[in-house]
Amino acid sequence: MSGFGLRNDVYRRPLATALDRLGVGPGWKCVDVGAGGGDVSVALAEIVGPAGRIYAVDSDPLSRDAVAASAAAHSQVVAITQAGEDLLLPEAVDLAFCRFLLMHVIDPARVITRMASAVKPGGWVVAQEPITAAGRIGGRPFSMPEARHPDVGALLPGLARDAGLTIVDAWAEAPAGIGPGPVASYLASLTDVDPGDDPIVLPPLVTVLARR
Ligand SMILES: C[S@@+](CC[C@H](N)C(=O)[O-])C[C@H]1O[C@@H](n2cnc3c(N)ncnc32)[C@H](O)[C@@H]1O
Repeated sequence: MSGFGLRNDVYRRPLATALDRLGVGPGWKCVDVGAGGGDVSVALAEIVGPAGRIYAVDSDPLSRDAVAASAAAHSQVVAITQAGEDLLLPEAVDLAFCRFLLMHVIDPARVITRMASAVKPGGWVVAQEPITAAGRIGGRPFSMPEARHPDVGALLPGLARDAGLTIVDAWAEAPAGIGPGPVASYLASLTDVDPGDDPIVLPPLVTVLARR
């Protein structure tokens, strides 16, 4: 996978584990909801190849330009400006994915229900969301006041079940470190705080793999 930014670097393992577990392969059709700069969309595009299709959906129109730039080499990536709450695609997909999205939306239950409706019967819905307060800097909890649901990861299995999905697997993973390196750089980019020599445990990312 290429084109990964700092977030992708530190959270690459949960993404790789989830995609391997699903067996995403050539020809798959996927939607990456809340695609942002398109890191996950590009990773998916490289796996599904030219016969596949990736819809990179984001409510922020600026995301289209960012995705167009990062996915310039992948004509199978289609960027769409749309809110996850209104998710409607030209075709049913094999996989609806989101990461660090539900923490920002007004109604996470509605978004995951739309994602469930976007996949084919038997298709996959995969969400990766943090439990922000479970992260630690020097033993002190993280906070993210600007996020609407900073701890939505803790609710993810319930949200998937309530959307009528069957949970196949679910787990949490937290990158950790001390001193200079990607974990400290990511923290500094998020918070403008230099962690110095404090040990860091980034917010655990809860992954839910579920099927329609
Ligand atoms: C923290 S970024 C995550 C980007 C990407 N998923 C990743 O993991 O690198 C959150 C993205 O969700 C988008 N977003 C926020 N609310 C949304 C909504 N209701 N519907 C669709 N996208 C939304 C934002 O514009 C932003 O690009």
